[in-house]
Amino acid sequence: MTLLDVQHLTKSFGGLVANKDISFVVAQGELLGIIGPNGAGKTTLFNSIAGAHPIDSGKVIFDGRDITALKSHQIARLGLTRTFQIYAASGDLTVKENVMVGCFMKTGSRSVAAALADRILQEFEIEHLARSLVGELPIAAQKRVVMATAMGTEPKLLLLDEVAAGLTPHEVDGIIATIRFIHKDLGVTVILIEHVMEMVMNVCHRVLVLDYGEKIAEGQPREVVKDPGVIKAYLGERYAREHTTGTPVRSEFPKP
Ligand SMILES: Nc1ncnc2c1ncn2[C@@H]1O[C@H](COP(=O)(O)OP(=O)(O)OP(=O)(O)O)[C@@H](O)[C@H]1O
Ligand SMILES: [Mg+2]
Repeated sequence: MTLLDVQHLTKSFGGLVANKDISFVVAQGELLGIIGPNGAGKTTLFNSIAGAHPIDSGKVIFDGRDITALKSHQIARLGLTRTFQIYAASGDLTVKENVMVGCFMKTGSRSVAAALADRILQEFEIEHLARSLVGELPIAAQKRVVMATAMGTEPKLLLLDEVAAGLTPHEVDGIIATIRFIHKDLGVTVILIEHVMEMVMNVCHRVLVLDYGEKIAEGQPREVVKDPGVIKAYLGERYAREHTTGTPVRSEFPKP
């Protein structure tokens, strides 16, 4: 079943077309990756889908409903939640309070929100951090709180914007485990924007590549990294040289 259907989405800022005629669908249960160079329009695409700003043209259908004209809080209530590239959990709140902020999207009752937050803290194995201030936690733990908070909204579709940025390889493994848990055990469909190729290659079923606001490729991760257009636009000429001459491929770009 199609959960998200983006049709000919265009969004510009003044003269700059940040998303140009982008179409794609996401099936329920899928785990889709979005890659592309800095400024390609990835975060703008999340903003366009999640109602953070009005789009110029096109349509966004979520769970069978046209959400193009809805505001972000209305979209979140329907079950489409996003995290922000720039860290968005509030450092002044405790971990539990943060997660409750997500839960309040679904309920006005403090006790219901608190019970839901407790369950999520347990699921994410961070109940021991419930009373810690988020701002005092290491960055990897903060990212876990961001994802736990997003789960407070009980999403059907979760948009993750660079949750692995700035983490060590070991911490990236932890984030991958959390994403797999959200996807597999909690049954949430996920779209993730990521520059960490290890994550994209290991986690995503399908990848969409943006460049200068346009979708330039779409397919299985191992196919997409072989695409000459993608190599040129994103993976870099060095990768292309290594790939065609057979000399070793850099570790961050797993061998297709
Ligand atoms: N609110 C805005 N006003 C004006 N221009 C914007 C705005 N948001 C994004 N842009 C521009 O749109 C283009 C796409 O930006 P976007 O943040 O979507 O890229 P990105 O693919 O997420 O990049 P990165 O990998 O660096 O996060 C960039 O040229 C950016 O400067
Ligand atoms: Mg971005």
